[in-house]
Amino acid sequence: MKLIPTLEWRENHLLLLDQRLLPVEEIYLKCRSTEELAEAIRTLAVRGAPAIGIAAAYGAVIAAIETPESSSFQQDCSGLLDILAATRPTAVNLFHCLDIQRKILFSSTSRTVAIERLLLSAHKLREEDLDASRAMGQFGADLLPDDCTVLTHCNAGGLATAGLGTALSVIYEAHSRGILSAVYADETRPLLQGARLTSWELQKAGIPVKVLPDSAAASLLISGAVDAVITGADRVALNGDSANKIGTYPLALAAYEAGVPFYIVAPVSTFDPGSPDGSCIEIEKRGRDELAFMGGRRILPDGVGVFNPAFDVTPVKLITSIVCERGVISAPNEIEW
Ligand code: MRU
Repeated sequence: MKLIPTLEWRENHLLLLDQRLLPVEEIYLKCRSTEELAEAIRTLAVRGAPAIGIAAAYGAVIAAIETPESSSFQQDCSGLLDILAATRPTAVNLFHCLDIQRKILFSSTSRTVAIERLLLSAHKLREEDLDASRAMGQFGADLLPDDCTVLTHCNAGGLATAGLGTALSVIYEAHSRGILSAVYADETRPLLQGARLTSWELQKAGIPVKVLPDSAAASLLISGAVDAVITGADRVALNGDSANKIGTYPLALAAYEAGVPFYIVAPVSTFDPGSPDGSCIEIEKRGRDELAFMGGRRILPDGVGVFNPAFDVTPVKLITSIVCERGVISAPNEIEW
C-alpha cells in the first residue's frame, strides 16, 4: 500500500501536503516557525487527530530551533509549545504528543541535545502511528463480511495520520483481501473532508467510492445497502464515548435504527484517560465564514448567526466495537472501563 505523503521532515522545517487545496492542487506548505505551523493546524492545512499530533511533535523541533540558547531556553521553548497546544482543543493526540515532547525538552541537558532528542522522538511517534494504522487495518478488516459495503464520514485516512489511516486503513485492508464491494463517503459539511479528501485518497488507491450528502446517509442505511459504518475519532473517553467530526453522532443513530454495526477505529493515543465520559470532551466551535460562504460565494444574509461545532460525541451505547492497534473492544457499552 502506497502511503499518502501527509507530512515530511526536511532538515530544519516541516513539509505539509496542504489539505486546504485538495483535490484541485497538490501543493506542499513549508513550516519553518511555530507560528506558521500553528496557523496550518488552525486552518486545517494539516488535520485529523493523529496527523495534528505528529505535526505538533515536529513543531517542538521547530520551536527548539527557533529558541535562542540562553539560561531560560527550556522555558522559552515551552512557551512556543503552548502556542501549538492552543490551536485546536478536541483531538487529544495533539496534547499527548506535546506532553511527550515537553518532557524531553525539560530533561535535555542543552539546546543541541534537545533538538536531537525531539527530532528522534517525532520520527518515533510517526513510525508508531504507521504501525498502529497497519494493525488497526488488520483487526478492523477481520470484522467485515465478504462482499461488504461500508460507509465512512470525514477523512480518517492517510491524510489524517502519518500516511495510512484509521478507518481508511480498514478499508484499504478489506480491499486488498478482496472482500470490499463498495465504499460510500459522506461529503462532511461544512469543510467537505469526505468529498475533497476521502474520495481523493480512495481514488488514488484504486478503490471506487461514491460521495453522498450527509443528509442522505440515514436513507442509505435504512435501505439495507450498507454492511458497516466505519469512522475515526478525535478523542475516546474512558467510558468509550467518542468525539469525532460533526455528523458522526446522527450517523451512529441512523446505523442503530437500521441495525448496521457502527465501528470506531482509533489508536491508543486517541484514548483520553483524563475524560471520564463524553461530556468532559471540549468541542471546538469554528467560525461563521465556514457556513456563510460556499465556493467563495456568500450564502448567508448579513447578520445571520451560526452554530458551527467541529465535532460531536457519539455515546458508547451506539458503538458496536472500538478498534485500536491492540485489538477490538467488542460491545464497549457492556464493559466496566
Ligand atoms: O476537523 P478535522 O478534519 O481535523 O477532523 C478530523 C476527524 O474528525 C477525523 O475523523 C478524526 O480526526 C480521526 S482521523 C484518523
